[in-house]
Amino acid sequence: MAYPKSVRMVEVGPRDGLQNEAKTVPTAVKVQLIESLADAGLTAIEAGAFVSPKWVPQMADTASVLAGIKRRPGIRYPVLVPNMKGFEAAVASGCDEIAIFGAASETFSQKNINCSIAESLERFTPVVEAAKKAGIRVRGYISCVLGCPYEGDVPPAAVATVAAKLLAMGCYEISLGDTIGVGTPAKAVAMIEAVAEVVPREQLAVHFHDTYGQALANILACLQHGISVVDSSVAGLGGCPYARGASGNVASEDVLYLLNGLGISTGVNLDKLADSGGLICDYLGRSPASKVAQALLGRRKQS
Ligand code: HMG
Ligand code: MG
Repeated sequence: MAYPKSVRMVEVGPRDGLQNEAKTVPTAVKVQLIESLADAGLTAIEAGAFVSPKWVPQMADTASVLAGIKRRPGIRYPVLVPNMKGFEAAVASGCDEIAIFGAASETFSQKNINCSIAESLERFTPVVEAAKKAGIRVRGYISCVLGCPYEGDVPPAAVATVAAKLLAMGCYEISLGDTIGVGTPAKAVAMIEAVAEVVPREQLAVHFHDTYGQALANILACLQHGISVVDSSVAGLGGCPYARGASGNVASEDVLYLLNGLGISTGVNLDKLADSGGLICDYLGRSPASKVAQALLGRRKQS
């Protein structure tokens, strides 16, 4: 299959990237990060999560973050919502897109959202119903599509089963998450092909973490198999609090460099994106995990 002409990059840094940070990142820094990502040309920026602050304290200020940003036309700012309580908070914050998040592994589902896969789907049903009535778009995530920190290998059929249910519920897109970054291209393609039997490829997104350094190779393979939506996190920030050992998401700068090299359009500016990563890394006191960002920032220092 040929590469897509354009790819929609979904930036998850302000949520997936920051949710695992032990030190509380002030609301103003999160707002500045989101604004700089918008300046870079991203049109989908995950802005936070209405989850229990006891489970994920870093996301406790999501309502204030949403109140602090200037919502720009043409940009989506989805937030994670696990249940009706989260949905109500999202509505009160004026969200026009939410993401529900399930898993392909039973143990991960229990550890992450404290219920089985079947119970999670029951919880999501009224959320999606209410969202439809309110004209709010719903994205569906599936975690552990290529491996689970507790159960090991996850069969592609298990992912396809959950994906079909999320689609039937009304999700406009399903993001397939290699939460612990164990996938390799052949496994990723086998999983995509299994899911594509029940969900049109145009409604699939991929969400790779880079624990084993395979994320870019996996993305390239998925692009060759009809995928044209890619999640990533600026500076490669991230990890999941309920997936010990999972490293950051694939870095947005690295994904963009790859896409630029293939002549695939995204509307995102690489230098501005690197600035955005530099901004949050300066705050966190570390270098970006992105090789591309390191090269760009190093070159700037030299000139
Ligand atoms: P629970 O303890 O079973 O829920 O947690 P509960 O309904 O029994 O409520 C317990 C307490 O939480 C109550 O407060 C509720 O009010 C409160 P208390 O009476 O004890 O003071 N509560 C809430 N507070 C705020 N917002 C809410 C909410 N719901 C209940 N929405 C629950 C169940 C789902 C809430 C919990 O397990 C939770 O918040 N989990 C979130 C975990 C999470 O955010 N994980 C990271 C995101 S997933 C991810 O990173 C993977 C992804 O990136 C894809 C990939 O990488 O593969 C998406
Ligand atoms: Mg993730």
